[in-house]
Amino acid sequence: MKIYHLLEKQLQKEPNFVTDNNELKKWVIIDRARNYDEELLDLLLSEKELKAHFFVEVKGTFVFKQEQFIQFLEQKNYLNNSYTQFKNKVGLTIDGKFLKQRNEVALVWPFKDCILEGGQSREEDKREEIFFNEVLAQDEITQLLEPKVLTNAKRFNKEGEQAFNQFNRNEEGTITDNLIIKGNNLLALHSLKEEFAGKVKLIYIDPPFNTGNDSFKYNDNFNHSTWLSFMRNRLEISKVLLKKEGLLFINIDDIEEAYLKVLCDEIFSRENFVNVIAVKSSTPSGTKTAHKERTIIKQKDLILVYKNGGTLNLTPQYVKRESWDTHYSLFLTRKNENYQLTKLIDKIKSIEELKNIVKLDDVNINDRKFKEFYLKNADSICRLQSHKNKDAETISREMKDTVYEHFVEGVSKGLYYNGQVKTPLSQGIKKVYSNQKYNFDLGMLLCDFWSDIDFQNTQNEGGVSFPTAKKPETLIARIINLSTREKDIVLDFHLGSGTTTAVAHKMNRQYIGIEQLNYGENDSVVRLQNVINGEQSGVSKALNWQGGGEFVYLELKKYNQAFIEQIEEAKTTEELLQVWEVMKEKSFLNYNVDIQKQDAHLEEFKSLNLTEQKQHLCELLDKNQLYVNRSALEDEAFACSEEEKKVTMDFYQLKK
Ligand SMILES: C[S@@+](CC[C@H](N)C(=O)[O-])C[C@H]1O[C@@H](n2cnc3c(N)ncnc32)[C@H](O)[C@@H]1O
Repeated sequence: MKIYHLLEKQLQKEPNFVTDNNELKKWVIIDRARNYDEELLDLLLSEKELKAHFFVEVKGTFVFKQEQFIQFLEQKNYLNNSYTQFKNKVGLTIDGKFLKQRNEVALVWPFKDCILEGGQSREEDKREEIFFNEVLAQDEITQLLEPKVLTNAKRFNKEGEQAFNQFNRNEEGTITDNLIIKGNNLLALHSLKEEFAGKVKLIYIDPPFNTGNDSFKYNDNFNHSTWLSFMRNRLEISKVLLKKEGLLFINIDDIEEAYLKVLCDEIFSRENFVNVIAVKSSTPSGTKTAHKERTIIKQKDLILVYKNGGTLNLTPQYVKRESWDTHYSLFLTRKNENYQLTKLIDKIKSIEELKNIVKLDDVNINDRKFKEFYLKNADSICRLQSHKNKDAETISREMKDTVYEHFVEGVSKGLYYNGQVKTPLSQGIKKVYSNQKYNFDLGMLLCDFWSDIDFQNTQNEGGVSFPTAKKPETLIARIINLSTREKDIVLDFHLGSGTTTAVAHKMNRQYIGIEQLNYGENDSVVRLQNVINGEQSGVSKALNWQGGGEFVYLELKKYNQAFIEQIEEAKTTEELLQVWEVMKEKSFLNYNVDIQKQDAHLEEFKSLNLTEQKQHLCELLDKNQLYVNRSALEDEAFACSEEEKKVTMDFYQLKK
């Protein structure tokens, strides 16, 4: 029994492993054991006997006896001192486990165990890519996910574009510069791993929703599976980058939400699911309503929220009340040492401009004079509520129709009236966002339904246009306010027009934005320069944004990716053949490509249509060499410049 008690005591140290009654959540722990969870292994290793029981030492390394540990938890017979392989019941088993015991649900799909680079060159391009199997293609995956060489570094500030000198770092040696990284997001995230693992407070992403009409365009029959693999690969590395107290917000819609939820449950675990927020993102009008007889019109987006195992510490947000809460119907006055309660409506009617108001339902909460009145008298306007203080209640009931102040050891514990406590209106005065400003006003706690954000007038926010998919700055500001403090690190790896970074910049958060496509004059880099120059759209006015600050721009150094882009841009066969000539000389081709054979079949190649020709050339390229690996920094074949060496070595803190 001893070992079980020891185990129980040790595992109870982790709040996520126990129920409210302090009982072990066996299936959560088993799930963690299956995934070699660091937290669990750490707890087991730090207790001598548990370490001896559940690990075997091989040449100084402790190897987890996973099967034995899981069996122990699953099959422990708590009533006597032994544990048995077989329960005293008859039932069906799979892998030695009773069906009832296997209460885990797993979402499976084709290629689930694969890594998909998931690149894009232009939004409208259809892609065909290799899935690397995690077990069979370990070498390829290791190479693919190795940190990359950085290039084209620049610093942007009020004086415009500056030559990059070096990164700023804090006392712990972590980079404190804001970063905009151009390149494939999976590879960029893996390049950030060493520098930022466990340091990011908020990840907000707005990925393609996989609606069939968005930018997720894959040339296969497995579009849904491809999307799930694409998301899984990115969410797994997101988890590594997040702080323990960090939060992940994923903007999505109904098409993939349910699948994404199950996927996130698997990666972050069910107990770390925080909520799903419904955001009203459009109004039913125009062409949207054309098929109203045949469908229910979509009016909302969803935001899935997950934590990373730590305790939540949110800053509650409030929205402005639109009507008077008629529970607030009393007005407290003080005469000498005595308090008196009178009707609020009488007080209101005594104001010349408001004398026609008959009942509280009639007041216009936005009336200037009324607002002036309630903000000035917020401590006197009040309501009565029930409470748990039995002493105060008894005394106050006995003192019928009299305001009673309850003291405990000389400290006032509030005013009571006929057994109820007085709650002043001032408790409901909050910082709220309305009319493009943050004001102190009557607030209502914001929960998981956000219906007050204007999605219609965001087209020109930040001075860039991103017609289909830009998110309102107020939405991002709310998420940042809710989940972060100043200087916390905010990450968005589907940056698009740069909304997340623009708002983070205005709110004095450190940020990292990643995007593969260059949106030219509507790019996030242009937007952030506008922000530095003090542009006044979005949340600027509300935050009294005056401009300033800086960011560093970086790119992942392309190798074969540059050829892919040339192939995709080519308009004729002649152009493609020119690219092929350079490819023969300079690109990295798949190991089984025979250049002479390719050249011998040029006529056959020419007989293909342009799309097929492009596809063929792309297939010849080694997909592992799309970007230059950090380990190839000194390799002459990749011709890294002195500048590239400098920024790469500085970023990864490499020594010469
Ligand atoms: C909906 S937009 C994000 C818009 C952003 N929230 C804003 O306010 O501007 C989706 C982003 O995902 C990117 N994206 C689409 N398909 C991708 C892929 N296969 N790999 C990486 N990023 C992709 C797009 O380039 C786009 O920037």
